[in-house]
Amino acid sequence: MSAIKILPDIYSVGAADWNVRTFHGHTYSTKRGTTYNAYLIVDEKIALVDTVYGPFAKELIENIREVIPVEKIDYVIANHVETDHSGALPEVMKLCPKAKVIGTQKCKEGLFKHYYGNWDFQVVKTGDKISLGKRELAFIEAPMIHWPDSMFTYCPQEELLMPNDAFGQHIATSERFADEVDPCALWDEASKYYANILWPLGAVIARKIDEVLKMNIPIKSIAPSHGVIWRKEPLKIVQAYAAWARNETKPKVVVAYESMWGATQMMAKKIVEGIIDAGISVKLYDVAASDRTEIINDMLEAKGFLFGSSTHDNDMLPNFAGFLEFVRGLAPKNRIASVFGSYGWAGGAAKEIETVLKETGIELAMPSLTVKYVPDEAETKRCYDFGRDFAARIK
Ligand code: FEO
Repeated sequence: MSAIKILPDIYSVGAADWNVRTFHGHTYSTKRGTTYNAYLIVDEKIALVDTVYGPFAKELIENIREVIPVEKIDYVIANHVETDHSGALPEVMKLCPKAKVIGTQKCKEGLFKHYYGNWDFQVVKTGDKISLGKRELAFIEAPMIHWPDSMFTYCPQEELLMPNDAFGQHIATSERFADEVDPCALWDEASKYYANILWPLGAVIARKIDEVLKMNIPIKSIAPSHGVIWRKEPLKIVQAYAAWARNETKPKVVVAYESMWGATQMMAKKIVEGIIDAGISVKLYDVAASDRTEIINDMLEAKGFLFGSSTHDNDMLPNFAGFLEFVRGLAPKNRIASVFGSYGWAGGAAKEIETVLKETGIELAMPSLTVKYVPDEAETKRCYDFGRDFAARIK
């Protein structure tokens, strides 16, 4: 990806990672790749806002060189410590050692622990500004969106917000603007990003959105650190975040299960029939055969979860256990759930799943439904009714 002018004297100089298929270790699937966005602002002083993941340092530096000699950079704004945005910082600083690095106190501490760089560092707080000449950059601390060091950078003259990870999407495209890409893919990736990374931080996000809106700063574009730039109706993504942060839901159920010999799967399919016949939207996932990142994305707007596992060693099956552990970390609010599954002699899975759901604060709307070995005709009917009854609670 070359340098692309996105506004007068402002360039996108980051890198596309077309082939990355997992992220954050292997916790997040990135089937559409991603981008590490960095923005170069050329004024009397020159500022680079964020860098890129370390293996892409050369690409970043080449892109900057298409616009200016790298040695001329006066400020490197570090909105976030995480290595996908700071990994190239040491390489950049080798070329412009006199540049000042700007970030929050936590950012200073975090960058030092990552790179031990002996750089001139200016700590900033919300409301602090620097002048580049015709333009200024103002800073808004955004702790826990999504690390303690996180910060937004705002250019008032261009009405441009650079909020780093917030409002991002893992999508690699040659286009740089949201209105130039397939809207279905874009919104799928934007919600997937929120669901899998930001969901547990809803209360902080809601407060920060409130705070920024009360500042009454005009926002013409939002340029995040992953994916494309929101320039047409930029507040649409802010409103979507506000709704997700409020845990607003739709009348929809996600049924997720793992089955050893097919009996729990038979139950799941019959439950889904009951939900469909009750007129409620439903998605069915075999956790062992599905991408967890996609299941979580579907769960973001669903009011109800039905979780099922066969019993194995008095407990749930291991793929399901891993999935449920991830759900526990996301701590969804304002949801209802129930549990189902088949067992052979001593049950146990349903009780274990219920325990995790209670600890997570998810309301158990109905008693669990368990079946010994394989559901017979009467038990199959009970599965169908279980689905219908749960759907009635969603309405
Ligand atoms: Fe929190 Fe894109 O890194």
